[in-house]
Amino acid sequence: MTDKDLVAAAWKAREGHSALYSNYPVGAALEAASGKLYTGANVESSSYGLSICAERVALFKAVTDGERNFTRIAIAASGSLAPSPCGACRQLLMDYAPNVEVLLSERPGSFDKLSITDLLPRPFTPKHF
Ligand code: THU
Repeated sequence: MTDKDLVAAAWKAREGHSALYSNYPVGAALEAASGKLYTGANVESSSYGLSICAERVALFKAVTDGERNFTRIAIAASGSLAPSPCGACRQLLMDYAPNVEVLLSERPGSFDKLSITDLLPRPFTPKHF
């Protein structure tokens, strides 16, 4: 699968959002080293803090399916700026997908490519225990 295909999968996954309160739909497509694709979209609660980001939906689906190695994640959202994962998602990606490439797309067909360490320098990891 090309980067472009992965980004397209994130835009498609975005259609599954339940962004009832923020009206900011986000989609994510996470590629496991197994080749399997896991997608997610944000799901919000009237108790705002219970909402979950698209990235964590995709990651938790993959982890509960037994996946432990990941290659790329694409994140799709349109707004005034390109999407950027929140701190909680950065930490979880670092925990489970420390080598993942991150594709950030603010419109279909266009994306920036970063590493998770670009997004979370000097991370807390299990090596600190
Ligand atoms: N959100 C995501 O799903 N992913 C991101 O990368 C940034 C934020 C969601 C959480 C919430 O549902 C909405 O966007 C606004 O914060």
